[in-house]
Amino acid sequence: MSDEEINMEILLDHYRSPRNYGKIEKPSVELVEYNPVCGDAVQFTLKIENGILTDVKFIGRGCSVSQGAASMLTERVKGKSTEEVMNIGPQEILSNIGLNLGPSREKCALLSLNALQKSVRKYRDGEK
Ligand code: FES
Repeated sequence: MSDEEINMEILLDHYRSPRNYGKIEKPSVELVEYNPVCGDAVQFTLKIENGILTDVKFIGRGCSVSQGAASMLTERVKGKSTEEVMNIGPQEILSNIGLNLGPSREKCALLSLNALQKSVRKYRDGEK
């Protein structure tokens, strides 16, 4: 199996058995983000305590890349500080997925990062 095939298997496994799927009761913040091109969506609910993302869940509908990437992202950020979450760059997500995605599929892969970082911003704005 090539690296690309292994990475595809990992992504599909997240798509078929999403981790951290669902909604947190009484979240610190929740937010829905759409891909305007296709209408696919993810909804994130976060629990933030003392600047730490103590819990994160998502629900969504969409292609295997958007939903698989959302699941992978939740595993990556749980327990991290909001600062660390805001410092994740798109390239980190794309190299973590490790597939040769074209520009439109890259948007699918980055939908959940946008949603998550917008959620943190919304939470911070609410604190002011
Ligand atoms: Fe809609 Fe991928 S095709 S998010």
